[in-house]
Amino acid sequence: MSIQLNNVEFCYSKATQKNILSIDSWSTTVGDRQFIYGPSGCGKSTLLNIIGGILKPTTGTVSVLGESLDKMNSHQRNRFRANNIGYIFQQFNLINYLNAEENIQLAHHFSSRKKTTKVRDKIHYLLSDLNIKSDDWSRPVGMLSVGQQQRIAIARAFVNSPQLLIADEPTSALDEVSTNNFMSQLSTLCKEHHTTLLFVSHDTRLKHHFNHVHEFSQINSKKEQ
Ligand SMILES: Nc1ncnc2c1ncn2[C@@H]1O[C@H](COP(=O)(O)OP(=O)(O)OP(=O)(O)O)[C@@H](O)[C@H]1O
Ligand SMILES: [Mg+2]
Repeated sequence: MSIQLNNVEFCYSKATQKNILSIDSWSTTVGDRQFIYGPSGCGKSTLLNIIGGILKPTTGTVSVLGESLDKMNSHQRNRFRANNIGYIFQQFNLINYLNAEENIQLAHHFSSRKKTTKVRDKIHYLLSDLNIKSDDWSRPVGMLSVGQQQRIAIARAFVNSPQLLIADEPTSALDEVSTNNFMSQLSTLCKEHHTTLLFVSHDTRLKHHFNHVHEFSQINSKKEQ
């Protein structure tokens, strides 16, 4: 199993005790391409943050790539994420004043992977593969288009060859042609790296790119307290 959730509950505020997540059981197998769709505010990003170890569940168990995230402290979860998970955030979380190479190098720096000069070759390979022109590699990413930033965020997510890629609505700002290009580039990279893909969006037109499709409310089965 790549991901196994059991009896997971999560609420942001202890005061209100309003559960955003209440999941009996959900799992994915290595190599799956999973798509979860649901409307704005239903809890998609919250779920990804739990699986990515950014948030800890209020109760329940979260196993990712065989490790129990619910038993780790935040430092251990951050380290685990840096080493094993590629994360494309809803807002990309690129550092605007750094260029593409520097943004990607930072993700490599935070991992425990051996630091070699070969990483530059890998970054250049990924950027070229994602059709970012070499002239743009050294420009601050804040000066690039949203579509270019989105592709740099994919390159960053793959630099450590993650076993799991989490993508939070990465196509929301793209037109149809750019979305299709993005999706095929993402699928190709996942196949090349044997990466399990967990992708959320409100856009059900993306369904056909995946081999498992779920409505968020099917996974988040229990209702609010
Ligand atoms: N940091 C936070 N503190 C308190 N409540 C939050 C926080 N982040 C999100 N929420 C609430 O949790 C619920 C789920 O939010 P979440 O961001 O997971 O939704 P989403 O499905 O990703 O939405 P979108 O499609 O708009 O990105 C929302 O009601 C939101 O207001
Ligand atoms: Mg969200």
